[in-house]
Amino acid sequence: GAYAGHGSRYGAFPAARPRRLRTTPAMRRMVAEHRPHPADLILPAFVREGIGEPVPVSSMPGVVQHTRDTLRKAAVEAVEAGVGGLMLFGVPEHKDAAGSQGTDPDGILQVALRDVRGEVGDDLVLMSDLCLDEYTDHGHCGVLDAAGRVDNDATLERYAEMARVQAEAGAHVLGPSGMMDGQIGHVRQALDAAGHTDVAMFAYTAKYASAFYGPFREAVGSSLKGDRKTYQQDPANGREAMRELALDLAEGADMVMVKPGLPYLDVLRDFTREVDVPVGVYQISGEYAMVEAAAAKGWIERERAILETLTSFRRAGASLVLTYWATEAARWLSAGR
Ligand code: PBG
Repeated sequence: GAYAGHGSRYGAFPAARPRRLRTTPAMRRMVAEHRPHPADLILPAFVREGIGEPVPVSSMPGVVQHTRDTLRKAAVEAVEAGVGGLMLFGVPEHKDAAGSQGTDPDGILQVALRDVRGEVGDDLVLMSDLCLDEYTDHGHCGVLDAAGRVDNDATLERYAEMARVQAEAGAHVLGPSGMMDGQIGHVRQALDAAGHTDVAMFAYTAKYASAFYGPFREAVGSSLKGDRKTYQQDPANGREAMRELALDLAEGADMVMVKPGLPYLDVLRDFTREVDVPVGVYQISGEYAMVEAAAAKGWIERERAILETLTSFRRAGASLVLTYWATEAARWLSAGR
């Protein structure tokens, strides 16, 4: 094989000198195996009910909770930069145990979906987070049973209703992110029964119970106490992700996702070798915060570090990348950087 010492099919030093292909920027650009592309990037965005000005998320410098108005502008900017999609999260004014704002046709996410769809139409792929944690006062991704545990099957009924209102509000793609068993199949049935056969599902298939979601919890004003370890995956488990993958595909997932990104590149690679549907990766809030914080201290080069992470996802086989840098990175990429 390639590594058989002197018998390598590539020859050996001194005839073989890999550095020849690294001599100039033009050479390196030409032989680059992977590069991120604006159309593959998806911008996650937060829209908050009842605010007159955007509210900065302090743990994610550069990211804000949008007003309905600034969200529309951000969507237009994303389109102009060539970004492929937008993943929308709603931050309601009022939360309750059932997360009722998540299924109210006039809830903030639904209203914002109509705003954005009205503004940019089909010029970008409009996606919405299908999960209850932004809307529940206990902060869990589902409803609780009498003992205070997350009730899987009762939650599926809530997701089905969320799916219908989000589809009616104009989402092209739904992103079920709650890690309930059976959520993909249940939501697919609900969508089809309501005539939304064209609305696609981007399944959060391998979603890990990660410490790196910290800044997101500020971004959505989460009231969670405790953790999500009874529904999100254990970071120790890689093979289990393949089981989740098989289930989501059998239930009708159109696209699948690995989340977080950098700590789970092995899972991403396993997915992309296994399936023929688009595989996405979510570069999450904590990954964003780490780079921004180190760059702010002058410890790493910001733009280089960001582009390196995006390239790594492509190298691991991702065809889609959710990143809070989507619009900015798309501009750099279009400028040939
Ligand atoms: C759940 C959801 C979360 C994220 C996206 N969807 C939070 C969680 O599971 O705790 C995290 C995104 C990020 O950290 O950037 N609705």
